[in-house]
Amino acid sequence: MKVDVLLGLQWGDEGKGKVVDVLTPAYDVVARFQGGPNAGHTLEFEGKKFVLRSVPSGIFQGGKVNVIGNGVVLDPALFKAEVEALEKAGHKLTERLKISRKAHLILPTHRLLDAAYEAAKGEAKIGTTGKGIGPTYTDKVSRSGLRVGDMLQNFDRKYKRAVERHKNLLKQYGFADDWTSLEKEWFEGIEFIKRFELIDSEPYINRALQEGKRVLAEGAQGTMLDIDFGSYPFVTSSNTVAAGACIGLGVAPARIGDVYGIFKAYCTRVGSGPFPTELFDKAGDEMRERGHEFGSVTGRPRRCGWIDLVALKYAVMINGVTRLIMMKSDVLDSMERIKVCVAYRIDGEETSDFPFELGDNVEPVYAELPGWKTDMTKMTNEAEFPEAFKNYLAFLEERLGVAIKIVSVGPDREQTIERKRG
Ligand code: GDP
Ligand code: IMO
Ligand code: MG
Repeated sequence: MKVDVLLGLQWGDEGKGKVVDVLTPAYDVVARFQGGPNAGHTLEFEGKKFVLRSVPSGIFQGGKVNVIGNGVVLDPALFKAEVEALEKAGHKLTERLKISRKAHLILPTHRLLDAAYEAAKGEAKIGTTGKGIGPTYTDKVSRSGLRVGDMLQNFDRKYKRAVERHKNLLKQYGFADDWTSLEKEWFEGIEFIKRFELIDSEPYINRALQEGKRVLAEGAQGTMLDIDFGSYPFVTSSNTVAAGACIGLGVAPARIGDVYGIFKAYCTRVGSGPFPTELFDKAGDEMRERGHEFGSVTGRPRRCGWIDLVALKYAVMINGVTRLIMMKSDVLDSMERIKVCVAYRIDGEETSDFPFELGDNVEPVYAELPGWKTDMTKMTNEAEFPEAFKNYLAFLEERLGVAIKIVSVGPDREQTIERKRG
């Protein structure tokens, strides 16, 4: 068997959590491969709403096994709070959530360093989620990180050594905040993690595949936030693209099967950084209101704009997307006309190639399509799709060269339409 990968093609928040939940019945194992509690994956069903940060989105559909892979960074305190809230809602996880021993731990001081680095950047700040993601991955790459498996041996010594190093760094940045108040919760989180089966995800996943089990790898963030291919430096600190699933779980490239690429019918981004199709007018406000575009973790208003096919095409290429999934089309239900960015004009030259940098000189070139002006939120079958909506899908498919297999018309699990055609 192969590992199918599901990931975001834009700047995150495409609706990955919802679709992982919808697809889970077809899988035996769901595994997160990168990122950490910077993610906020929302699921809605039976009138309930959950936002997951570190726990994979495959926990609500039967007793499927969920794995937190080695590529993930884990904050014990936040993890404990997340799992306890789920358990309170009746979802027991201890038996079916497994954690890689090689996943790295986010320390309280990583969170402070995140804040210190952001403050030092001033106007050029990234607008991180403040969860310590960058500093934790920095320690991993500079070979100074602490891993989940380190909890089991000489942990106090390892912890103190790391904190000592962080203390010096914080001092350099003039950051005198006290983290000891955060330590109690953090160490309680460490004890809490010990309740779960700590595994090596690489043999675990590969054995599952050999036994004929189906595995879905769940991405966090989005391709435009990838450390290598995103809008650097306004990115996150991990590889969010399909190749990240190989690294973050320990599966070989030839073991990757379908790659589900998720995008919104328009586009959003949180935090700083370039966004060529961003809107500052009524259409942008309408998207924000109708789409409830406020961060699921931070509550920050998300920046909104038209869909960007130059960036999307690049994302489809990097990830080798085999199936596209379009989310939140209902948000555009009321629009008279819909714009689609088909090229960039850079210093007067038109191009559909994704440039080295999305600088101020990048200007979107738009095609304009008629809106469908129909409430699609109760539709259950593609036969009901209005003509103008079908044209929108066909236009995107033609430009992106991949079929749109699923269309989402609302936040609920049920508001999902699988397409036979396309
Ligand atoms: P993720 O990080 O990719 O899982 O996405 P988020 O959960 O951060 O953001 C997606 C938001 O859109 C959530 O509030 C979802 O409940 C909501 N959502 C998902 N699909 C749809 C849809 O098709 N229509 C509408 N209106 N909302 C949706
Ligand atoms: P999900 O999985 C949207 C953004 C932050 C910031 C940049 C770096 O829910 O789609 P970080 O804290 O990772 O160092 O922040 O990345 N960012 C996200 N934006 N969705 C996310 O996750 C994000 N995770 C990080 O806003 O611009
Ligand atoms: Mg999100």
